[in-house]
Amino acid sequence: MGKESITITNNATGASEEFPLLHPTHGPSVADIRTLYSKMGIFTYDPGFKSTASCKSKITFIDGEKGILLYRGYGIEELAEKSNYLEVCYLLLHGELPAKEEYDKFAGIITRHSMVHEGFKSFLAGFRRDAHPMAIMVGMVGALSAFYHDSLEIHNPKHQEISAHRLIAKITTIAAAAYKYSIGQPINYPDNKLGYAENFLHMMFSVPAEKYEVDPLHAKALDLILILHADHEQNASTSTVRLAGSSEANPFAAASAGVGALWGPAHGGANEAVLTMLEEIGDVKNIPKFIDKAKNKDDSFRLMGFGHRVYKNYDPRAKLIKKMSRDIIEKTDGNDPLLEIALRLEEIAMKDDYFVERKLFPNVDFYSGITYKAIRIPVNMFTVVFTMGRMVGWMAQWAEMIQDPKRVIGRPRQLYDGAATRSYIPMDKR
Ligand code: SDX
Repeated sequence: MGKESITITNNATGASEEFPLLHPTHGPSVADIRTLYSKMGIFTYDPGFKSTASCKSKITFIDGEKGILLYRGYGIEELAEKSNYLEVCYLLLHGELPAKEEYDKFAGIITRHSMVHEGFKSFLAGFRRDAHPMAIMVGMVGALSAFYHDSLEIHNPKHQEISAHRLIAKITTIAAAAYKYSIGQPINYPDNKLGYAENFLHMMFSVPAEKYEVDPLHAKALDLILILHADHEQNASTSTVRLAGSSEANPFAAASAGVGALWGPAHGGANEAVLTMLEEIGDVKNIPKFIDKAKNKDDSFRLMGFGHRVYKNYDPRAKLIKKMSRDIIEKTDGNDPLLEIALRLEEIAMKDDYFVERKLFPNVDFYSGITYKAIRIPVNMFTVVFTMGRMVGWMAQWAEMIQDPKRVIGRPRQLYDGAATRSYIPMDKR
């Protein structure tokens, strides 16, 4: 095959085989090793998939070395400046920016799908009031398939589209309902006159006792946050959605699996963990102690909101959220001691060899919590907001997977290093 291939030689047996090299639009080439086991009787070993491409995708591209993020080829900075979340949803789902009539039709569909079946109220009432909202989200997203089974033929393109629309439209209603339930306030219905981000804030903060006006600054900040969280290649939760979906489970069940994966503090749960960490630091004078803890191999503590599997440069989303958090705090509370701590922490870490050598930069979660706090989102809802933004990415990736004519169920192999074959010993002989 020549230069468009790699050769793998097994030095133990002398066997040697060539495997094709596949070349991307952007990013590293990949060795197509799908026939490795059948040809050479060996597996690859890559826990955490640090060197493994799990699929082909046209949706999102990250250049981790340069800190570049593209949605369908468009830079995140341009989309953040010129687009809005629903337009980004259309782009991620359909691959192209919409013409005006396409956008208006899409936005209208999402708006009109935002109500949920009234049965959700009794479903919600089954949860403890003090349940973490993400626990409720895992349950409620999965339960959507118990209410919307009229569109679960996963190979039917119309059903694929309807389910994606329903999840994008209803995730805000479900999220706000989880919050209202946890604080014992009446659940609000969506208002079709409001924009997507505005409607969420209305459902979160409106009370029957008085008129609630959504602050346009808050709605704009939230819309930007949702754009920045919309998709991110094959991250842990997206890979979970793809794997769950590869068994032909319905998209609501696959999305529910994604919610569970996103919840972890190593992933989407980091935004909540950052706020907790900043509050624990409490004062800039305590920063060195926490930096030392993060560097101590005997301490499991990590600097939350720092580091990334792919970005070995500044996360472009963190740059945009850092600027937004400063803008919104200047225009609302004037200052936030937690932002001061975050800025100082970043400054110190960026000069520390431990972080510099490991290329550990602030990621999307480092400043997002401070912005959420400035627009009055409670800490235990931070990862829920991440879930809202990422739902469209999960649906775009799920659709790309389910529509792939060469799709197979995801089923990794392993390196077994357990007990060798042995015979059963009767209890009285042990
Ligand atoms: C998200 O994948 C995505 O795209 C995710 C995401 C998305 O949009 O979907 O971007 C969203 O999940 C962002 C990440 C949020 N998580 C955090 O902020 C939690 C803190 N970060 C770390 O847990 C960690 O950086 C990860 C999980 C994000 C990445 O882990 P990796 O790639 O497995 O890196 P690693 O554990 O191999 O770390 C390499 C070295 C290690 O030290 P050595 O063994 O080489 O001495 O860096 C160290 C790690 O101990 N390290 C850290 C650190 N992150 C890595 N040390 C202190 N603090 C940290 N935050």
